[in-house]
Amino acid sequence: MTEVTWSLEMAEKRGYPHFMLKEIYEQPRSLRNALRLQHQYLDLLTAFLDRGRELFLVAAGTSYHACLAASYMFSKLAKLTTYPVVSSEFVERYGASVGIDSIVLTVSQSGETYDTLRAVDHARMRAATVLGITNTVGSTLTRVARAYVIQQSGPEIGVAATKTFTSQLLVLAQLALRLARTRGKVSQDEIDDLEAKLVEVPSFVERTLEGQAEHVEALARKYADERLFLFLGRGVSSATALESRLKVLEITYVPSLAYPAGESKHGPISVVEEGVPCIFICPRGETRRDIVGSIMEMKARGARIIAVCEEGDEGIIDLSDDHIEMPRGVPELLSPIIYVVPLQLLAYHLATAKGLDPDKPRNLAKSVTVP
Ligand code: F6R
Repeated sequence: MTEVTWSLEMAEKRGYPHFMLKEIYEQPRSLRNALRLQHQYLDLLTAFLDRGRELFLVAAGTSYHACLAASYMFSKLAKLTTYPVVSSEFVERYGASVGIDSIVLTVSQSGETYDTLRAVDHARMRAATVLGITNTVGSTLTRVARAYVIQQSGPEIGVAATKTFTSQLLVLAQLALRLARTRGKVSQDEIDDLEAKLVEVPSFVERTLEGQAEHVEALARKYADERLFLFLGRGVSSATALESRLKVLEITYVPSLAYPAGESKHGPISVVEEGVPCIFICPRGETRRDIVGSIMEMKARGARIIAVCEEGDEGIIDLSDDHIEMPRGVPELLSPIIYVVPLQLLAYHLATAKGLDPDKPRNLAKSVTVP
């Protein structure tokens, strides 16, 4: 006889100490599910998107960060004017201008977030076309959206969203690519290339988890007592920076800043002094040259540089105190889906190193259904 010492809750965690860690490791699978969504739903959403004069991407929290990253995809690939906006600001900022030619694509893991549903109500009242991406079958969002797609991530118990973020982005990327193909605004080769990379996303994430997990845990121990972190990225990586910062804020309570790196000299640089850890998101691509400049700016003021960069990118590695190596060949536009993963892990290990429970951050609820 062997006595099983697992509690029921631990059994649900399948041996992981926390749901958050389990959900981080589930990402290769949840991403594969996101690649197997039924084509007719993606086609339907694409057809609606194609009719729009402008696209509003509306969401809260982590889902908003997915929208922010996706706005670069829709603008660059489909050449569609796209406005990412946090749900709670939508009515104030765009309520008077949204109308029959607007598409409002709302993204909500729960499908129940009050602010997002309020934005949806307003958009419908103004005759805009409301579309949805959600993880929750039967949620209010599925009832009020003209068309929607279920992202198929499976239940997410950890309050800090992880696997649902990467899947939202993978769904959004598929929509942006479909729309680009429909509209014929970028070359066939570029789209074929990105579509081939899209299929590789789950294995890029798998390789990152396999190769970097121990190193990231050691980094978390090294930086566990820091009182401030800066997260910087350019272009689409500014969304990765914001989302990674949110993970650190939510579960470690360490006040942290995230900015588009180009903006840092317009203010945030004033908080940089000797030893402040500055996390740079540096995929290869159009923004790489400028990010090198931003790293040097921070380094000159004594910041300690932690770069998340491509394996073998010596130019960046030489400038860094520490680095996290990402697989080669990740296109910059898709990089948030992969580059965020080691930073989710970093936030997780920072929290546990501080003796905090990452599954139960103070003052936060998984789903905010009240005003
Ligand atoms: C962050 C987090 C929250 C949610 C936000 C929106 O880790 O979980 O910021 O992203 O409350 O929730 P949904 O996506 O359910 O609308």
